Amino acid sequence: METSLNKLTLRRQILNERSRIGEKSRREADRAIRETLLDQPWVQMAGLVAAYWSTGTEPATHGLIFSLWKHGTTVILPVLLPDGDLDWAVYDGPDSLAPGPYGIMQPVDTRRGVDTIRTAALVIVPALGVDRSTGVRLGRGGGSYDRALARVGPNVPTVALLHEGELLDGIPVEPHDQPVRYAALPSGIYATSVTGSA
Ligand SMILES: Nc1ncnc2c1ncn2[C@@H]1O[C@H](COP(=O)(O)OP(=O)(O)OP(=O)(O)O)[C@@H](O)[C@H]1O
Ligand SMILES: [Mg+2]
Repeated sequence: METSLNKLTLRRQILNERSRIGEKSRREADRAIRETLLDQPWVQMAGLVAAYWSTGTEPATHGLIFSLWKHGTTVILPVLLPDGDLDWAVYDGPDSLAPGPYGIMQPVDTRRGVDTIRTAALVIVPALGVDRSTGVRLGRGGGSYDRALARVGPNVPTVALLHEGELLDGIPVEPHDQPVRYAALPSGIYATSVTGSA
């Protein structure tokens, strides 16, 4: 109970800070994250990438997804199910998306099932914060990515995209919370102590 209250407070604080980032810094941060990720051999070599279509003040993924797609990578994006779990469908260019729940753009392509994320060679997820030592990830509070990440094998790189300053110490954790192996920030990619290397 106390943990979920702490999560609530932290979410509110981070969302408030995100809302204060100016347009110019936001664009620069988005470009830095995109270029750093696209420079990684393990990103270039991934044939199937699970990502998210960013919304609001989240670190932007639109350019990254477009570049991956142009490069020939298959990108799957989530389709939110009524129970909060995530189904997956293939991104096939800018015309392949339509607004879903909460106005978030989702692929119109055939849904491939919740287990499709198991086949991804790289998983890019949203987060409000990541614990720098444990890799514990704080999300928006739906538990959707905890469910999705629970299906991802231990050797698959999982990367949360963050704004600067969102790599934190002591993020509250509950038993169902799934960690990530990397956090990508404008200043670079940070490996948490969660097992393995890319
Ligand atoms: N595997 C699961 N099956 C069903 N419910 C789950 C599962 N994992 C988490 N939940 C539920 O989701 C709710 C929100 O969890 P939590 O606060 O960790 O969200 P979050 O990690 O911030 O969100 P998200 O994963 O969508 O980014 C909790 O009530 C939790 O019980
Ligand atoms: Mg969680």
